[in-house]
Amino acid sequence: MKILAKEIIADYSGIKIIQLIVEAPEISRKARAGQFVVIMVSEKGERIPLTIVEADAQAGRIKLIFQEAGLTTRVLGARSAGDDLFALLGPLGHPTEISKYGKVILVAGGVGIAEILPVARALKQAGNQVISILGAKNQALLILEKEIKAYSDEFYPVTDDGSSGKKGFTTDKLEELLSQGKYDLIYAVGPIPMMKKVSAISQAAGVKILVSLNALMVDATGMCGCCRVTVGGQVKFSCIDGPDFDGQYVDWEELAKRNQAYNQQEKHICSHFPSAKTP
Ligand SMILES: Cc1cc2nc3c(=O)[nH]c(=O)nc-3n(C[C@H](O)[C@H](O)[C@H](O)COP(=O)(O)OP(=O)(O)OC[C@H]3O[C@@H](n4cnc5c(N)ncnc54)[C@H](O)[C@@H]3O)c2cc1C
Ligand code: FES
Repeated sequence: MKILAKEIIADYSGIKIIQLIVEAPEISRKARAGQFVVIMVSEKGERIPLTIVEADAQAGRIKLIFQEAGLTTRVLGARSAGDDLFALLGPLGHPTEISKYGKVILVAGGVGIAEILPVARALKQAGNQVISILGAKNQALLILEKEIKAYSDEFYPVTDDGSSGKKGFTTDKLEELLSQGKYDLIYAVGPIPMMKKVSAISQAAGVKILVSLNALMVDATGMCGCCRVTVGGQVKFSCIDGPDFDGQYVDWEELAKRNQAYNQQEKHICSHFPSAKTP
């Protein structure tokens, strides 16, 4: 699987977000909104899940957008157009449930903005009224504004420092909208504290809330148990039962704790490979 094009779409204060166009004829034909791929950059590297942001079945390509977080995303970020990826598996996970709900609020934070783009597109094409709230630290990290706007009836950017849109958090804007009108669905992707708060706000307002969970994954085919989450008191595997779940039933504390489980080891391995090109 070849990387056909690469673009750095945000680079600010040590946070880098990169877009790749990857050759993937089979995956591009089958991918639907909400699904993801698992990538192995090199034979000895780990497997990481990334959302399929766009699939062009005619050209046989998919678009991936990722933030450099640790070693594997740094190694992927150091690859160039023309390089091969060792393995690409997908499309994985259940597609997002797309139907005509009515008025839908999308809430995305950070690189979650990339993950929500295919859902915005599909919900709009299904005839929904789409209201998008996008949040980032500042303007430089507020990615894909133009693309999400194209599928939104209302569009509200917010930034921590007020450099673009309103100063504040996505959840402030969500509360404001819910206090003024009636909505049929809320869909959120982003950092765990944001999705947890969006779920609590939606539940209090009596609006259905779907979240796309970023649980740690290894095989992504339901075999290893790494992506285990508790939803409504039941054990679910994010990779095969999700990644979308009803946010009001997710055990957020458990998810946050499990996602931190390998932080020490990840830091340790990063310090052994100061150059992302090494592994
Ligand atoms: C279904 C799914 C779709 C995803 N789609 C995207 C995407 O489109 N773009 C994107 O940038 N990221 C996405 N992620 C997250 C991405 O997989 C992780 O950022 C990546 O695995 C980190 O690997 P690493 O070795 O570079 O960092 P690590 O060293 O493993 O981690 C660095 C830091 O990121 C945190 N982290 C690691 N994995 C995850 C995770 N799965 N979710 C949240 N935080 C994590 C760690 O706790 C640590 O603090 C997705 C995750 C899932 C489960
Ligand atoms: S990642 Fe292994 S069971 Fe889901």
